[in-house]
Amino acid sequence: MSENWIFAAQLDDLPEDDVIGVAVNGLDIALYRTEEGVFASDNLCSHGNARLSDGFLEDGEIECPLHQGRFCIKTGNALCSPLTQGVTVYPVQIDGEQVYLKLS
Ligand code: FES
Repeated sequence: MSENWIFAAQLDDLPEDDVIGVAVNGLDIALYRTEEGVFASDNLCSHGNARLSDGFLEDGEIECPLHQGRFCIKTGNALCSPLTQGVTVYPVQIDGEQVYLKLS
């Protein structure tokens, strides 16, 4: 594993079809596990002070718990109002049972 990849979580710590919040290198990251794989984004909603890991994950979209804005977990794109901008997403690599992110 190159030094650009940073350990984020054990795969076992990620429930299927759910999202958790983790601190990685001082960043608040949302980690999503779906049947398509594991995805990562900034955890803070781009619209306000809400954590996406407290939201609702369905069909590859995360719904913010505060005003129900939805983001694509693969691209970070904002999918509906009141969102006007997306969130940053990060590449994910699974090595055995460990989840790594590339933050830069
Ligand atoms: Fe997330 Fe408003 S804080 S939609």
